[in-house]
Amino acid sequence: MLIRIPNGWEIPEREATPESVYWNRRSVLRAAGLLAVPSLAGQGTSLYPAKKNDQFALDRAVTPEWAATGYNNYYEFDPYAKEGLKDLTGKFNIAPWKVEVTGLVKEPQTYDLDDILKKFPLEERLYRFRCVERWAMAVPWTGFPMAAFIKLVEPKATAKFIRFVTVNRPKEMPGMAKAPYPWPYFEGLRMDEAMNPLTMLVTGLYGKPLPKQNGAPIRVVVPWKYGYKSIKSIVRVEFTSNEPPTFWNRLQPAEYGFYSNVEPKKPHPRWSQAYEQLIPTMERKATLQYNGYEQFVSGLYNGKEF
Ligand code: MTE
Repeated sequence: MLIRIPNGWEIPEREATPESVYWNRRSVLRAAGLLAVPSLAGQGTSLYPAKKNDQFALDRAVTPEWAATGYNNYYEFDPYAKEGLKDLTGKFNIAPWKVEVTGLVKEPQTYDLDDILKKFPLEERLYRFRCVERWAMAVPWTGFPMAAFIKLVEPKATAKFIRFVTVNRPKEMPGMAKAPYPWPYFEGLRMDEAMNPLTMLVTGLYGKPLPKQNGAPIRVVVPWKYGYKSIKSIVRVEFTSNEPPTFWNRLQPAEYGFYSNVEPKKPHPRWSQAYEQLIPTMERKATLQYNGYEQFVSGLYNGKEF
């Protein structure tokens, strides 16, 4: 008899009913050609919805789309608001979009997002997502593994970290003038974290191109870390030998470390991280070690990372 031992992120099918019902309905509609496929130049709209990767199941219902796209952190649009950011993104131009790959790579070069999208098959994954402020959601991201992108650009052996930078467009992003932050937003990962199969470059959400307020047209998603590591609207990927500085660490070094893994037993200096609150109901749930992705990532750490 073959006994299948589930991975940590897998859960019994009975607990996954809400989203499986939702997605079965979508596949039936798609098969029948009933899902509209609008064509917006430059956004690769015909690529959505992408095939779901069934390896990734949830222990909770998928967050309603209106909540995940209506409650955001995107300080470049407004550092003081989370709701209604969509209404501030009107001037933000996301097509065409280029991503510069630089630093310790075989051949530094600038890629057109449309060309990147042609190289990697998109897939959909249901991931939990946990903000350091305690709000949490569970959403279907569409994208491709960051590892595939890293293999394509061929970093040198001396590259140990990756630095990511968000677009710098104060005229299109009204929040940038509202706070004296060290814009543009910047983040980083250690190379083995970036190569971990969970780490994604994301271009879609809920079977559609990523909404601007969620980081269009391309963002990073690292589901076992606090949400601020998942940097939005990236235009630069730089391979470095040293740990790169990060935006929140620069602003508040005692509160936001480079690693920022979700760890229920390590309180934030100003609040507990033992529980989280699901948007939009704000129902409380216990925080999971590495946001529930322990089996995937615990081998990367010795527990002392901050
Ligand atoms: N990326 C940029 N460029 N600017 C930001 O303000 N906020 C971060 C992260 N990425 C942020 C960013 C934080 S604090 C969180 S919790 C997530 O984006 C929120 O992602 P979401 O709005 O798609 O839920």
